[in-house]
Amino acid sequence: MSKEIVVSGIRSTGHLHLGNYFGAIQNYVKMQDACNCYFFVADYHSLTTHPDPKDLKENVFRVVAENIASGLDPNKVALYAQSDLPEIPELYLMLNMLAYMGELEKVPTFKDKVRQQPDNVNAGLLTYPVLMAADILIHRAVKVPVGKDQEQHLEMARNFAQRFNNRYGMDFFPEPHVYRFNNDTVKIMSLDGNGKMSKSENVNATIYLSDDDDTIRKKIMKAKTDAGPTEPNSVMPDYIHNLFLLMNLTSTESVIDTYQTAYNNCNIRYGDMKKQLAEDMATFIRPIREHATELQKDHDSLRKILKEGAEKAHASAAQTIEGARKLIGINYY
Ligand code: TYM
Repeated sequence: MSKEIVVSGIRSTGHLHLGNYFGAIQNYVKMQDACNCYFFVADYHSLTTHPDPKDLKENVFRVVAENIASGLDPNKVALYAQSDLPEIPELYLMLNMLAYMGELEKVPTFKDKVRQQPDNVNAGLLTYPVLMAADILIHRAVKVPVGKDQEQHLEMARNFAQRFNNRYGMDFFPEPHVYRFNNDTVKIMSLDGNGKMSKSENVNATIYLSDDDDTIRKKIMKAKTDAGPTEPNSVMPDYIHNLFLLMNLTSTESVIDTYQTAYNNCNIRYGDMKKQLAEDMATFIRPIREHATELQKDHDSLRKILKEGAEKAHASAAQTIEGARKLIGINYY
């Protein structure tokens, strides 16, 4: 039986954080043996915010290094830079003809960006979901491991796939779906309790895979808490739930049980809980950080990995473009 096709990407806009790790990379690693995986650095996507050209290469190399340090094996997957596959912009152009202004303007992430950067509402931002659909459909992927924040984009990718199929030929593109282990899409919140953890928002409330032990301790000790529950078995506020979620991901079962019981009995001491979480988190991140730092020093090896990844990805992308051109009628010779 042929392996299922998986695609996912991460923008090269800064240091990777716990949200990227637990929302995405951890799942990539779990899928790399059983599936046919294409994982890429979304460098074209990062251009929507006009990064300084002198930072781009280092940012791309860092994402690659941090993925490998997190357990991704470039021998098992195609790990490449989006800009190394010219088939992606070609498919993006084709799909743009099937995407409508009205639906693109309604996308919540677009509306957020309009609010955040009113002086730079460029067409790339508007058509971001179309480029993302092209990234996925170029390999005719069925599973897309992403965090909860990308669900709407996946719905649009399914719409574009269906529209293409309806117009040009049924079943050319399969419908891609968000992939979740245990049916559970992860959303890691910022430690200040304000929205999701993100690469650029509050750096003091974001734990990066490159943070050293002391920085991790400081950030976790400052995480938002409150005076604690007053009723047994109370519902947790979001920011406390987030601390438990992080604990679930990095601490032992007995540690989690201890604090869960203390919470339910209204005698939890958040200071102690954060101290424990900080140590467990530091222990978790340390080997990833150290390995990534080593890898980042060796640009030749990273370049080789990207080149080989692009070759693997090109083989599948070229087939899709050839098929799409034929269906559209672009086959003159
Ligand atoms: P990006 O670069 O913002 O994030 C990369 C991955 O990390 C996940 N993620 C989170 N998960 C849980 N909690 C969080 N706080 C958190 N923050 C980020 C994201 O869901 C994502 O899986 N548009 C995408 C990149 C992209 C892509 C694609 C993804 C471009 N083309 C095609 C999949 C398929 C993005 O901006 O991710």
